[in-house]
Order: sequence, then C-alpha cells, then structure tokens
Amino acid sequence: MVLAEELYVSDKQGSDQDGDGTEQNPFKTPLKRWAVISKTQMKNVKKLYHREQTKTDTKDQKEVKIYQLEPLREQRVKVFGWVHRLRRQGKNLLFIVLRDGTGFLQCVLTDKLCQCYNGLVLSTESTVALYGTVKPVPEGKQAPGGHELHCDFWEMIGLAPAGGADNLLNEESDVDVQLNNRHMMIRGENVSKILRVRSTVTQCFRDHFFSRGYYEITPPTLVQTQVEGGSTLFKLDYFGEQAYLTQSSQLYLETCLPALGDTFCIAQSYRAEQSRTRRHLSEYTHIEAECPFMSYEDLLNRLEDLVCDVVDRVLKSPAAALLYDINPDFKPPKRPFKRMNYTEAIEWLKEHDIKKDDGTYYEFGEVCAPLHLNINIMNIVCFCVSLWGQVDVLMPNVGEIVGGSMRIWDADELLEGYKREGIDPTPYYWYTDQRKFGSCPHGGYGLGLERFLTWLLNRHHIRDVCLYPRFIQRCRP
Ligand code: 4AD
Repeated sequence: MVLAEELYVSDKQGSDQDGDGTEQNPFKTPLKRWAVISKTQMKNVKKLYHREQTKTDTKDQKEVKIYQLEPLREQRVKVFGWVHRLRRQGKNLLFIVLRDGTGFLQCVLTDKLCQCYNGLVLSTESTVALYGTVKPVPEGKQAPGGHELHCDFWEMIGLAPAGGADNLLNEESDVDVQLNNRHMMIRGENVSKILRVRSTVTQCFRDHFFSRGYYEITPPTLVQTQVEGGSTLFKLDYFGEQAYLTQSSQLYLETCLPALGDTFCIAQSYRAEQSRTRRHLSEYTHIEAECPFMSYEDLLNRLEDLVCDVVDRVLKSPAAALLYDINPDFKPPKRPFKRMNYTEAIEWLKEHDIKKDDGTYYEFGEVCAPLHLNINIMNIVCFCVSLWGQVDVLMPNVGEIVGGSMRIWDADELLEGYKREGIDPTPYYWYTDQRKFGSCPHGGYGLGLERFLTWLLNRHHIRDVCLYPRFIQRCRP
C-alpha cells in the first residue's frame, strides 16, 4: 500500500482494517501506518534478534567442569571459571587459561570477542562463563588436557581489579605478605595442588579406618580437661566457667570403646606452642584412634599398618600424580619399621655422634625428643619405643608424626597418677569411670595430619600444608 502524504483519521467512521487513510476512507487511529523500515531500525532489530538468539543458545547450553571435557571434543560446551592466565596477541586474539578447581583449560577468543569492552578490561582472577567448541590442540602445541576451547561467546561474571592477584602479592613477596594473602596464594598451582593432596590423604585415612571396622566420632573441642600438659593449653571463658580448646580427643575416644569398639576421629587439636618452629602449629588436624583389648605389640602393628596402608591408598588414587609432581623422589616406607627402644635410641645417638647443644651426649633418663630433630639423617621410618608403653613414629625430615601409648586401665593407678601430676580428679570423673565400669587394657595414638603431609610432600615448613596456618602471632586470615 502506498500512503498519501496526508493521512485522514476518524475516530467514529474510520477503520484500521479497511481504511486507507484517505478522506473518503480514513483510518480509525493514526498509529496504524506501515512504512519501509529505516536502515538504523533494521540494524537495531537484527541486534535484538541476535541477542535473543544467543540467549536461547546459551540458556540451553550444557555446563561442564574442565575435568569432564575430554569426551566432549568437537562439541559446544559452557565452562565457568577464573581467569588464571591471560595473554593478548595483537587486537584480535586473546588467550585465557581458565581454572575451575578441577583443572585448567586453554581458551581462544578472537575478533569481536576480545575487541568488546569486557574483552579489553578483562584481568586475571576475574570470573567468566565461556561458550565454545573443544578442539584438540594443533600438533606441536601444548595445552592442559591436550585440547583448547574455541570460544564463540562469553560473559563476564565478576571483574577483578586490573593486574589480578599481582596487586596483592607475587612470588618474591615477603613471607608475612604471603601469609596475609594466603586466600590468594591458595589459588596458585603449587598451593592448590597441596590442598588437593591433603583432601585425598584425609579421605584415605578415613577409608583405612572404615576398612578395618572402626567407627568415626566427632568429639567436642571445647573442654574442661587437659591431656597433654598445662603449658600448651588455650584457656577461654566459657559462660563464666574455665574451659580450654582441646589438645587431644584421646580421653573421649577412650569413653567410646565400651560403646563402639575400635574408634577414630579426625578433629582439630590446639596447642599454645610458644615457639615458632617448622613443625609446630597452634591448631592442627589430629587423627586419633583408640582400641580396646589391645597389646603393646598390637599397637605397633596397627601403626605400621596405618602408615603403610594410607600411603598405598594415596598412591592408588588420582592424587598420586600430584604427589610425585610435588615430591618426585617420594619412596613409600618399607615394612617392618625399625623398632628402637629408648636405650637403643640413646645408643644410636652416640653412635651417630649426635650431641646436645652443650656438646655432650644424651644420657639415659633424658627425654627422647632431641632424637626427632636429628632423625632426618636416617632415611628410614622408625618407632621410638619407650619403657613406659609409649611409642612415637619418627619420619625422615619431620621427626615425630605419631604419639601413642598403652593407657592406664587400673582405677587406683589412675588416681595415683592424678595425684602425682597435681591434677584435680573432679572434672575427670567420667574418665575415671571408664576404669570402674568394665575396664580393659587398651591403647591408641594421635597422628598429626600436617606432619604426615610435610613428610609425604617433603615440605620444609609445616605451614605449607595448611589452608590457613595458625602459629604464634598468626591468627589470620
Ligand atoms: O604426641 P602428642 O602430643 O600425643 C597426644 O596428643 C596423644 N593424646 C594422642 C593420642 O594418643 N590419642 O600428639 C600427637 C601428634 C604428634 O605426633 C604430632 O604429629 C601432632 O600430634 N602434634 C602436632 N602437630 C603440629 N603442631 C603441633 N604443635 C603438634 N603437637 C602435636
């Protein structure tokens, strides 16, 4: 229809259906007009159409994690993640290494995808959603997983400040700066690898215990009793009463024996350690177990089984590759562990010419602790067995990773013990009751998860294997 320059409308006689805008045949409303669409309008409509189209394309797009990509090659996928690395090559090419916790993925963005505003301001550590096709990398090129994502669309989710984490720290930063920014450090490849191994190792300890018929408990860590001596107790006000952060869950585990039999727990323990050493934390993950009707020999055998079986499990897990990445020289410990009693340990120190700080040899009656410091010269795992039914497991590089013992199971002997140590037995009534209501010979141990990891991953410092280490003068983040 060709419209006249002048349009006639009539509210009463006009019709939008039959009218043609002439005086004889007016429209009902002036809105009912057709015209050839202008170029600008057409462009806008196309844009809108395109946007709608991508919306439906992206809405239905399958979301996947990076580790799932291999079987999806040549398919279109959507991946969320953090920009781990970023490289701009000219105006038309942007390479992203995307990180999503399950792996790394090289992504290629071209032309408009990198020339847009978001493409220009994108920084490392920003979060994005990338859409595209997974393609094997061209021959001779390398990328994680052997493939890369050819993007056809992407969305910015959270823009990080320009420069990403480099604003806060880099590899040369001072140790304290690194610790203050540990929340950023853990995003790095090395620390996140350690955290991944830690997760698997924890799982392997659980699997070990369950496979041997133990029950797991979750004991309280706010307590009113001490286990390992007053000097390392964190005291706190508990609604007006004196309470502590637990040093060990041993006493609660002992109470579970008549209820559950062999029992274990993986719980936090706290030690107000005054010294800043490379093996001491003020909060650590304590893996403890307790077993009824057990002999000292059984205790040693179970400890050997624990360490060797957990290592076997880790080596059979997907974390084995990470472990060897971090510690290429790792050798699993050999059974049987060397068993050294206290006298032999003292002898051994003499034979190896290991002296105290004052230049004299350790003598019988002195604590065995210094042995731990020097054990790294002996590249074997060993039991340090005491005359009093105690045992330490010593590892190369870290020293003591386990402390265990046979427990006093006679009520009178226990009461004597309280007296000798100057401990008021009143708050221990429930512990003493164990010796009255069906006592039995029993024993158990505590293994420091972080010490175990320090050994397994051959780290110099125990804080390397912690998420947010706690030690003297460090309680953040
Ligand atoms: O030798 P400990 O003090 O023994 C106990 O607490 C016993 N009550 C455990 C039990 O028999 N259920 O500690 C056991 C282990 C040590 O061998 C060490 O691995 C770890 O706990 N540990 C520490 N780890 C890091 N930082 C500290 N300050 C630690 N103190 C002990």
